[in-house]
Amino acid sequence: MSEQTTFPRWIPLLGGLLGSTTCGLLLYAFSVFIKPLQAQFGWSVPDVALAYAIICLIFGLMTFPAGRLSDKYGPRNVVLIGGIIMAFGFFMVSTITPPDPAVIAAGGDAAKAAGKTQLYLLYLYYGVIAGFGGGCVYLPPIATAPKWWPDRRALATGFTVVGLGLGSFIMAPMATWMINSPTIGNGSALPVFKYVGIAMGIMVVLAALCLKVPPAGYKPAGWNPPAPAGGSGAPKAYRDYTYEESKKTPQFWLLWVAYFCGSFAGLMVIGLIAAHGIDAMTLVKKAELGLDAATKLPADQAKAIAMAAAGAPSTLAIFNALVRIMIGPLADKIGTKKIFVALFALQVVAMLLLFPAGKTAAMLAAVAGLIGWNYGAMFTLFPATTLQYFGATAQGSNYGLLFTAWGVAGFAGPYLGGQLRAMTGSFFVPFIVSAVILAVAVLILTTLKAPEKKHA
Ligand code: 2OP
Repeated sequence: MSEQTTFPRWIPLLGGLLGSTTCGLLLYAFSVFIKPLQAQFGWSVPDVALAYAIICLIFGLMTFPAGRLSDKYGPRNVVLIGGIIMAFGFFMVSTITPPDPAVIAAGGDAAKAAGKTQLYLLYLYYGVIAGFGGGCVYLPPIATAPKWWPDRRALATGFTVVGLGLGSFIMAPMATWMINSPTIGNGSALPVFKYVGIAMGIMVVLAALCLKVPPAGYKPAGWNPPAPAGGSGAPKAYRDYTYEESKKTPQFWLLWVAYFCGSFAGLMVIGLIAAHGIDAMTLVKKAELGLDAATKLPADQAKAIAMAAAGAPSTLAIFNALVRIMIGPLADKIGTKKIFVALFALQVVAMLLLFPAGKTAAMLAAVAGLIGWNYGAMFTLFPATTLQYFGATAQGSNYGLLFTAWGVAGFAGPYLGGQLRAMTGSFFVPFIVSAVILAVAVLILTTLKAPEKKHA
């Protein structure tokens, strides 16, 4: 018997969209804070970058308990409590008191020492507390929306993750505007954390209210699950995998490794692509002007290059958002495997093109768009594959555990990328390493087969 309900099923989609937009505000625009925070607190780039690595790790690891709790107690409470913690952590960054500007302006060890305690507060508020809450907001809608849309599971999943792209797309220009506005930031990033923190709090409460699980056995009106293929006689009854069964399959761990590889490469590039463009275009300009490597470019030329390079992360963000929705209907139609293999193979090519593409803004933006497209697709395709393989019942726990791959990659990718760049003097080696890691994922995804169905 199919259960009916009058609850409109687009509401959980809206909840997912709102929740994931707050995560986008939280995560992907962080690079715009680096310079203003450095100027105010005397921190180095690696100091500030570590806050980002911490948030990726904690956010990614928290999705696992968040998914378990969501399967057990429903998504609403997890998103509500996690969301308030996230908004609180983000808001609290605005309360960190900057050291005396004169000490910072003087630079040197005194400036470093002056901002040390505040740096730990940044790690605590942004990295640990906001990251903890963020993981709790991100995962439950991904597990909930497809239960309302058994007929369009991948599309529903896409809706619950599209906000990551959307949020970052809004946040980068909005935060830059707030920082530069003489009446809001006047050069400081701190007010952004205050106002956006409050907005996040409101958004997560609304998101939580939109989320609930459908009644057991729910089917949308007029839809019947497709009959199992190839069977003759009485249709066989199948059941979903339990969480314990899912994590015992080799497929689960192969997916984990592939997810790690794709996230490692993607997150490394998201963190470094603008810097790569600046490096490469600076070399071209210096050659044009006949300057040697040690001579600095004139300030106006350097500024023009920085602006041109900034087009790459924006293009990446647009494609990272668009693909999440656009790939859903295709995945619902032909399954995820073929799309996976094609996009990961394309990502290997994009990584190989990325180094030479840095020489011009247009080429860099084109490759960035391709990378954003392939990267963003993962956040629809991996949950959709988990659903396809193991069913919807334990999706929160299953996908929560799978997503820890992203957290580990978010810590390791940008860090190793930065180290390899420092050791070798260019981004050539980090991008080649990414291509090799992605090639491993192509192999895995090519050989991957769905696990046997469980008989009821
Ligand atoms: C996403 O972009 C959080 O990286 C994850 O959906």
